[in-house]
Amino acid sequence: MGSPSPYLPGLATIMKIEEQTAMEKLFMVRPNDGKPLGHKPGQFVEVSVFGVGECPISVSSAPNKKADFEICVRRAGNVTNALHNLKAGDVIGIRGPYGTHFPAEDLRGKDLLFVAGGLGIVPLRSFINYVLERRKDYGRIIVLFGARTPADRLFKAELASLARRPDLEYLETVDVGDASWKGNVGVITTLFPKFAIDPKKTYAVMVGPPVMYRFAIAAARAKGLADDHIIVSFERKMKCGLGKCGHCQMGPVYVCQEGPVFNFAAIKNLEEALS
Ligand SMILES: Cc1cc2nc3c(=O)[nH]c(=O)nc-3n(C[C@H](O)[C@H](O)[C@H](O)COP(=O)(O)OP(=O)(O)OC[C@H]3O[C@@H](n4cnc5c(N)ncnc54)[C@H](O)[C@@H]3O)c2cc1C
Ligand code: FES
Repeated sequence: MGSPSPYLPGLATIMKIEEQTAMEKLFMVRPNDGKPLGHKPGQFVEVSVFGVGECPISVSSAPNKKADFEICVRRAGNVTNALHNLKAGDVIGIRGPYGTHFPAEDLRGKDLLFVAGGLGIVPLRSFINYVLERRKDYGRIIVLFGARTPADRLFKAELASLARRPDLEYLETVDVGDASWKGNVGVITTLFPKFAIDPKKTYAVMVGPPVMYRFAIAAARAKGLADDHIIVSFERKMKCGLGKCGHCQMGPVYVCQEGPVFNFAAIKNLEEALS
C-alpha cells in the first residue's frame, strides 16, 4: 500500500470476519485508499492493531483487480488476539506487500504438488487459487493438506470443493481423528505412498510448521524430486519486514527480504533452515 514512509502503515477497513476454527479467523480487508494491494502469491503484509503492535501475516487471497484481500489469523499473542477482538468496520494498519513470492511464471506447464500443513494452507491458498484461475497453464495438480485434528481443518468448504474437482487430486489427513472422521489418520507424509509423480516435470510447493519440512522434504526426495524442484516458505520472527532489524535472520539470510519463499536448493546448507 502506498504511504510516504515504509514504516508508516496505510489504513484499511475490516469488511468481513469469518470464524474458521476456534483459533483462526478469516478477515476480508479493504485498503481505505481503494487501491489493490498488488501482491503476488506467497507474499505477506505487516498488520497493525493501533495501540497494540504489528505482526507479519500472509495474504491468503489470490491477486485480483479488486482492492479487497483476505488474511487468516491464528490467535498466538498480543497482536493476533487483539485482531480477533475486532469487528467488521474497524480500521487496522497495513504495510506491504513484502517478501518473495511463489514462482508462478517459472512453474507454468509443470506438474505441481502442493503440501500444506496446518496454517501453511493460508499462503498456499493464494497460489492454489491463482493456478486454478489459469488451470490450462499448468500440468497435473496434487494438493496434500494435513491438520492436527478434524476440528483444526481450515477452509473446510473450499477444500471440499477442491476434492470434487476432476482436474485436481486432493488428499488430506489429520494427525488425530475423532468419531466423525472417516479419512486418513497420520502425519502428512503418510499421504505420499498414495500417488506417483514424474519427478522431471513436478515441483513441490510446501508450507507448514517447522517440524513438517524435514519429513516432507525427505518424502519428496524419496519420490525422486531434486532439491531445486522443492519450493518452501519459512516463518521466522519478524519486526520491520524491511531488512533493517535482523529479527528474521537465518544465518546470513534475511527471511523478510530473501524469503519467505525459497527454492530449497538455495538454502539447504543453512544450518537453521530445517530447525
Ligand atoms: C512471513 C510470515 C507470515 C505469517 N503468516 C501468518 C498467517 O498468515 N497467519 C497467522 O496467523 N500467522 C502468521 N504468521 C505468524 C504471525 O506473524 C505470529 O503468530 C505473530 O507475529 C504473533 O504475534 P502476536 O503479537 O500475536 O504474538 P506475540 O505476543 O508476539 O506472541 C507470539 C508467541 O510468542 C510467545 N511469546 C511472546 N512473548 C514472549 C516472550 N517474551 N518470551 C517467550 N515467549 C513469548 C507467545 O506466548 C506466543 O506463543 C506469519 C509469520 C511470518 C514471519
Ligand atoms: S524483519 Fe527486520 S530484518 Fe527482517
